[in-house]
Amino acid sequence: MVGKTLITPDTLVLVSGGARGITAQCVIKLAHHIPCKFILLGRTPVNDPLPEWALDCPDDAELKRRAMTRLTTEAKKATPQAVEKLFRQIRAQQEVETTLQAIRQTGAVVEYVNLDVTAPVQTLQKELAGPVQRLGKINGIIHGAGTLSDRRIEKKTIQDFETVFTPKVDGLRNLLKVAPAGQLDFLVLFSSVVGFFGNIGQADYAMANEVLNKAAYQIKRDNPTCHVVSIDWGPWDFGMVTPELKRAFAERDMTVIPTDAGAEMLVKEITSHHTVNDQPVQIVVGQLPTRAASDISGELQRFEIRRHLSLDANPFLLDHQIGLYPVLPATCAASWIASVCEQLFPGFTFYQLEDFKVLKGIVFDENLAHEHILELNEIEKVPGEKVKFAARIWSKNKNGRPLYHYSLIVTLLREMPPTTIHNVNLQPSAGTNEGILGKALYEDGTL
Ligand SMILES: NC(=O)c1ccc[n+]([C@@H]2O[C@H](COP(=O)([O-])OP(=O)(O)OC[C@H]3O[C@@H](n4cnc5c(N)ncnc54)[C@H](OP(=O)(O)O)[C@@H]3O)[C@@H](O)[C@H]2O)c1
Repeated sequence: MVGKTLITPDTLVLVSGGARGITAQCVIKLAHHIPCKFILLGRTPVNDPLPEWALDCPDDAELKRRAMTRLTTEAKKATPQAVEKLFRQIRAQQEVETTLQAIRQTGAVVEYVNLDVTAPVQTLQKELAGPVQRLGKINGIIHGAGTLSDRRIEKKTIQDFETVFTPKVDGLRNLLKVAPAGQLDFLVLFSSVVGFFGNIGQADYAMANEVLNKAAYQIKRDNPTCHVVSIDWGPWDFGMVTPELKRAFAERDMTVIPTDAGAEMLVKEITSHHTVNDQPVQIVVGQLPTRAASDISGELQRFEIRRHLSLDANPFLLDHQIGLYPVLPATCAASWIASVCEQLFPGFTFYQLEDFKVLKGIVFDENLAHEHILELNEIEKVPGEKVKFAARIWSKNKNGRPLYHYSLIVTLLREMPPTTIHNVNLQPSAGTNEGILGKALYEDGTL
């Protein structure tokens, strides 16, 4: 079934973060295709004209020099931080003004609302009431607002987390209170491949983006006529990607998404679909990250990884109880081992698990050990190809004796062989000799 076109010249699109960065580039491109109506949200104030000292200054170093002179003239401390802050304010305001001008040149109608998407819902509703009254009902949302505060997880502060998490997650919740999904023809969320694959220093960013991905599925389920899509963008050649990040991507052989191609892709996503559709809810755009293979030459090695397991930190275990006590599912033990092996050898992927034995298991009763030891002994290595481990998880009992919980053999490979789907006859249907083909279960939605 085909519904109505998602976007027409009468459509009003609410865009968080739409005046700057990659979202602005997408909005400009969209306006070129369909000059419709936009409300852009952002924290950058643009009410006052740019100060005279900042005019006609495309060179960043020169603008910083002028900012320093300005601060000194105003008898303020011209610290490098103060200069950088003023410089960024000027550039942000210029970016917003350039975006608005570029959109208006297409014939589209645009209003900019200087608003933090994490503000209380009442504030958002109040600030947006005027533009909505002038421009009509909101038919589409693009949620592009996002910030970074990269730091390794052990150094993250609550403030870092809030800075990164709230614009994405609280922001989405707020936008949907202003314009519920039931009234929308489309909802586009700007997520990131980092939500999918993770990235060093970006634990909060990964979480926020993955919440957007999962929220998209839920919103689509509850509002099937709205086109909902969460786009897991790879790195762009624009926006929050700093030169350092670009270098890091280059080291991982990841090419960045050219600005024009990325914006074109967003336009396609909105202009080529219809309100009723079976399009994917989550799409990954860009090249998948690859990692250089670890060097696995040399002697066979032994590793020990210690872990404190508790019910408090793993409340899902309360749903896996045998008799009186929760028990670690064997599959959790196996994936714990496989995942540790992969982390020891970046660039290699878990391929095979053999000879898996549940010995004592791990029971969360009064005898639970304070720590569990994962012992990994390399038993075979083929440089650049494969590494095989004999693994076991054990702990010490109250008398200091070893207690073995699980054992298995794990193989990691550098290159995965092509996947085969075995056509196993699972069960003969009544009255025939024909069984259900295993492959069918993957094709008919059963699995
Ligand atoms: N660039 C990439 O390579 C890349 C890759 C994957 C995903 N993404 C995603 O794409 C989106 C845009 O990224 P970008 O690279 O364009 O970053 P950017 O240049 O830093 O722009 C961020 C945008 O979000 C707005 N924003 C941030 N916090 C906000 C808040 N609390 N309320 C309202 N607006 C807010 C900013 O405007 P103000 O500063 O004026 O508020 C700006 O328009 C983000 O969600 C990001 O996660 C980007």
